[in-house]
Amino acid sequence: MVFTSTRVIPKRLNIRVNVATLMLLSVILTVFYFLLMKDCRKIQESRDKPKFRLIIVILTSPDALRVRDAIRKTWLTEETENTRHFFVIGTLDLQQEMLETLESEQDKFHDLLLLPRLQDSYGTLTKKILQAMQRLHEDFSFDYLLKVDDDSFVLLHRMLTDLDVWEAKGSRKELYWGFFNGRANVKKTGPWKEIGWNLCDYYLPYAVGGGYVLSFNLVKFIAQNADVLRLFNSEDVSIGLWLSPIANIERKHDVRFDTEYMSRGCSNQYIVTHKQGPENMKALHDFYTSTGNLCSKETRSRMSYHYNWTVPPSQCCNRQVGVI
Ligand SMILES: *[C@@H]1O[C@H](CO)[C@@H](O)[C@H](O)[C@H]1NC(C)=O
Repeated sequence: MVFTSTRVIPKRLNIRVNVATLMLLSVILTVFYFLLMKDCRKIQESRDKPKFRLIIVILTSPDALRVRDAIRKTWLTEETENTRHFFVIGTLDLQQEMLETLESEQDKFHDLLLLPRLQDSYGTLTKKILQAMQRLHEDFSFDYLLKVDDDSFVLLHRMLTDLDVWEAKGSRKELYWGFFNGRANVKKTGPWKEIGWNLCDYYLPYAVGGGYVLSFNLVKFIAQNADVLRLFNSEDVSIGLWLSPIANIERKHDVRFDTEYMSRGCSNQYIVTHKQGPENMKALHDFYTSTGNLCSKETRSRMSYHYNWTVPPSQCCNRQVGVI
């Protein structure tokens, strides 16, 4: 075109373009600098985070001091420098007196994970585990997380040994380890009723809540998605649901997890046994330390099952005589 080819770009415009370019460049550099700094800080933070093989999360209630003491004096005495435990308690709306009691317990033991945004009750257990995971993921670096209730008794060194064995197999999968149920009926009444469950006739396969282990990346996945996850009443059911879309995962069903809502009895092979009060814990611990066995007499009050992952969940879990 004739009129453009003869036109000379005025010098003024040239300068303006340069100023604009410079400004843009400096904005880009500034943004880049801050991004870089943020990345460095992140790397620095993860370097500074205390690192543990296993973090033990024990859900407990504000007034269960006697129970916590029993746990500290029994199975937690097996802790190593590679493990760290936390008793998780929601402190929202607690009486001042209770708060002060908890603070003095904290001063003495430094093992409470207090959640100021959580009202402690049966109805908030799912929020409780979720907030605990967010905090622990933020503050610590770890390989595995064990969640138990405050009436669960754990043989910690066996669990640590088994984690080493599992890892030595070199599967490189994420680990979700416990006693699984794939055909639990959706509760319609009682404290564990689920009003909003509309995904299936059963819950999705989940490790029952008396004790289960998650590898770090699973905790990370849950913590990072905490804001968008659907929360159900039962914390263990919710975990099973949240982890259902993960591809690279091993759901390791283990009959040595006596973690159902009632204990199946006593077996010397157990790693975790549920529904143990403080007196029982002491008896188990004393007997175990003196004999190396958990049970003075092995008993079976409820049949158990090996999980069959090759059939539909409704047929997964047939209880059989002879399974611990
Ligand atoms: C699972 O169930 C199928 C079909 O009944 C059966 O052939 C298989 O042996 C079972 N596997 C286990 C590990 O029980």
